[in-house]
Amino acid sequence: MPNIKSSKGEELRAPKGMRDLIAEEVFLFQGFFEKAAELALYYGFKPIDTPIMEKEELFARGVGEGTDIVSKEMYSLKTKGGDHLVLRPEGTAGVMRAYVEHGMFALPQPLMFYYSGPFFRHENPQRGRYRQLHQFGLEILGTKKSIADATVINLTKIILEEAGFTNLIFKINSIGDSECRGTFRRDLVNYYKKNLKGLCSDCKERLKTNPLRLLDCKNPNCVELKKDAPDSIGYLCGPCKAHFKEVLEYLDALGIDYEVDNTLVRGLDYYTRTVFEVFAESKSDDGTMTPLALAGGGRYDNLAKALGVKKDIPAVGVSLGVDRIIDLPEYVRHTPRIVKKPKVFFIQLSFDAKLKSFEVIEALRHAKIPVQHSLSKDSLSAQLSLAEKIGVPYTIILGQKEALDGTVIVRNMDTRSQDTIKIAKLAEYLKKIK
Ligand code: HAM
Repeated sequence: MPNIKSSKGEELRAPKGMRDLIAEEVFLFQGFFEKAAELALYYGFKPIDTPIMEKEELFARGVGEGTDIVSKEMYSLKTKGGDHLVLRPEGTAGVMRAYVEHGMFALPQPLMFYYSGPFFRHENPQRGRYRQLHQFGLEILGTKKSIADATVINLTKIILEEAGFTNLIFKINSIGDSECRGTFRRDLVNYYKKNLKGLCSDCKERLKTNPLRLLDCKNPNCVELKKDAPDSIGYLCGPCKAHFKEVLEYLDALGIDYEVDNTLVRGLDYYTRTVFEVFAESKSDDGTMTPLALAGGGRYDNLAKALGVKKDIPAVGVSLGVDRIIDLPEYVRHTPRIVKKPKVFFIQLSFDAKLKSFEVIEALRHAKIPVQHSLSKDSLSAQLSLAEKIGVPYTIILGQKEALDGTVIVRNMDTRSQDTIKIAKLAEYLKKIK
């Protein structure tokens, strides 16, 4: 296999954890995004497309200095002008920035957005974990109402069901707001300080920077300690408790099965009140079935404040991990609308025919007849066998004689009968027989 070598003699490959998506793989992503966008539009969401790079401070302040995403996983660079930019590790902070930058609080609230695209996290690549990942996201900004939380969770379920997933596991929790979380955090820190010896080294660090994250550590000792740790739900203040109760009532009314998981805290600092994750069972490399997070989200009423905005901008959202979704065997593919099954194969023989070929392809395009052809093959038999392989019902043959006459031969691939047709009449003819 030929390869590209760097000046140091190493092979020049796509960066670790990033991949080329080719032909059908691109359609796989496009098909998912198209279907999810269609469903979001039905629910009143509008598209938003924010830059792939943002100022580093947006995430440092929004997602939080103490989170893995900000402290370990961001791709950052300093521009020639001296700006510190990062490749976006997630979409929520950018959407909030855009909302504030464009003064959207002056518009009727709430604003409902969907987005899709690549995100970048310098994580250890493994199955379902990439450094360039693709998400589809939903954000509702400008409302505190619990129906917004329920809308986001319900639409996540609908998108995943339409994608073929029937055995989804919804985990939900409330981590309170800045009022009640203070006491919870204090008691949590006190509890873990008393049990410091049993903690893994990462958790000892987290105790200083991000104590809530101790609750989702997978280390067996930490899992054991978690069992007796303070429970966030017991600390909820009246309004947070009422909000959580309403969200659960919506989910009950929608028939969504969920599990209240008081250890669910999520890895980003901007969350308040509702947090949730959606899992599907997936076969891991050792053959055992383990739950894989397909989507995660929650309410982030304090994100705007963390970014220094003086206004209250309550909001809630979710992101779906598209790489994981389309990789699972349950995934039912949606063909993107632009992809058309070819109806005819166009065979060009001789240079004169190739000169005339654009006229034929244009005529077919105007008539909306999808065509496939080979730019490199010259012989009739090679092109006919390609047409047979693809399985098109008709081939159009343009040889030297036909090019001079302004005609083509249309061959029925089943019956092998042939007709000679003027190029000007070709579209009309094909429409009649198809
Ligand atoms: P997140 O939980 O960091 O949330 O990511 C959401 C989903 O993206 C995950 O459940 C997972 O399916 C997928 N994902 C995350 N990292 C990777 C990776 N390295 N490779 C492949 N897939 C990955 C957020 O990003 C928040 N912005 C969600 C949100 C929106 N909260 C409020 N609004």
